[in-house]
Amino acid sequence: MEKTFLMVKPDGVQRNLIGEIVARFEKKGYKLVGAKLMTIKDSLAEEHYGEHRDKPFFGELVSFITSGPVFAMVWEGENVIGTARQMMGATNPKDATTGTIRGDYGVTVGKNVIHGSDSIESAEREINLFFEEAELNTYSKDN
Ligand code: CMP
Repeated sequence: MEKTFLMVKPDGVQRNLIGEIVARFEKKGYKLVGAKLMTIKDSLAEEHYGEHRDKPFFGELVSFITSGPVFAMVWEGENVIGTARQMMGATNPKDATTGTIRGDYGVTVGKNVIHGSDSIESAEREINLFFEEAELNTYSKDN
């Protein structure tokens, strides 16, 4: 079954949005198989955001994502990667539709509340970066 990596960013944690965000994916029908509150080290942030290394905002991105705890999650379900991206809304909250997470709660592109994998390859890479195999759970769930 398809899995994705989602992370409530430091702004979302500080604004008490973890519960609201988890509830949206639970109510949608996806299964939470891994979760932890953690403070990311610079080395992990740089690896996670490696594709943005040459962008002018890279330093700002790394310093923000390491500035406070994030809530890292692995969610499972049919088409969860693409559907989670739709539920998150556009990267820049100013372009995100009302009803999406960033559309409802985000204001700036840097502090945009949540990160989610954008492809099967990045989901696999990001899950492996943040979680040990033993931290991922198997159970049956009723929708
Ligand atoms: P995310 O989905 O976590 O992936 C990369 C992040 O870079 C993105 O969300 C934004 O938060 C951030 N980002 C993109 N563009 C900018 C920008 N111009 N300034 C600061 N951060 C940015």
